[in-house]
Amino acid sequence: MTASAASISGGADHGARHVAIIMDGNGRWAKGRHLPRAVGHQRGVEAVRVLARAARSMGLEALTLYAFSSENWRRPADEISDLMGLLKRFIRSDIEEFVANGVRLKIIGDYRALSADIVALLDDALARTAGNRGTTLVIALNYGSQAEIARAAAAAAAKGPITPETIEAELDTADLPPLDLLIRTSGEVRLSNFLLWQAAYAEMVFTDVLWPDFTPAHLEEALAAFARRDRRYGGR
Ligand code: IPE
Ligand code: IPE
Ligand code: MG
Repeated sequence: MTASAASISGGADHGARHVAIIMDGNGRWAKGRHLPRAVGHQRGVEAVRVLARAARSMGLEALTLYAFSSENWRRPADEISDLMGLLKRFIRSDIEEFVANGVRLKIIGDYRALSADIVALLDDALARTAGNRGTTLVIALNYGSQAEIARAAAAAAAKGPITPETIEAELDTADLPPLDLLIRTSGEVRLSNFLLWQAAYAEMVFTDVLWPDFTPAHLEEALAAFARRDRRYGGR
């Protein structure tokens, strides 16, 4: 959609409804400052908090954040435990604000495989924000796109013919707007098993900014770049 078409239809000027971010570079941020990796992850959570607030004012319907991949279990146990601790604290401290501000929380990925206390916290947060109609904050937890597609294909097959449409209807993201823009921080140019299906026609922005340094101004910059793109979907 062009910027002008977006304003006519009442959406935000940039025209993006759904943005996803691969939040990468916490470790390198900490290393560059001779700090423990855990501090990088803490600062990463701060960046999430600030950005989640800003997403509403930028007119986004959905903001999807890659927080923990199904491959991140390969990391040392103490780092995984730091990340899970941060997740717990984030949900506990921010849930009231989500409830008050109309943010709907959604989780994609196999979050039920996380520890029982985290699953309980997440289920409570999901239930309490389910009726909200503001921005949907989607957190990808224990998420892997290939497993998601395999699960969706199996679910589609159990119901009838397998087509792109029937698979798509079974993806974790089925109730979200199509993915418009995918951002990755930290200079890596790969998808790392994130939203492979959904990214078929997403625009991509790769930035060298490390995740803890990523601000709403960086998101606005990416949205401005998105608004200048010519999305053709194979046509001309
Ligand atoms: C992103 O930062 C956070 C997670 C993957 C959980 P990293 O921890 O991957 O940071 P780098 O890539 O080592 O700098
Ligand atoms: C991708 O980052 C996963 C998240 C941001 C949660 P990684 O740091 O795990 O990706 P690779 O290992 O560099 O591909
Ligand atoms: Mg990384």
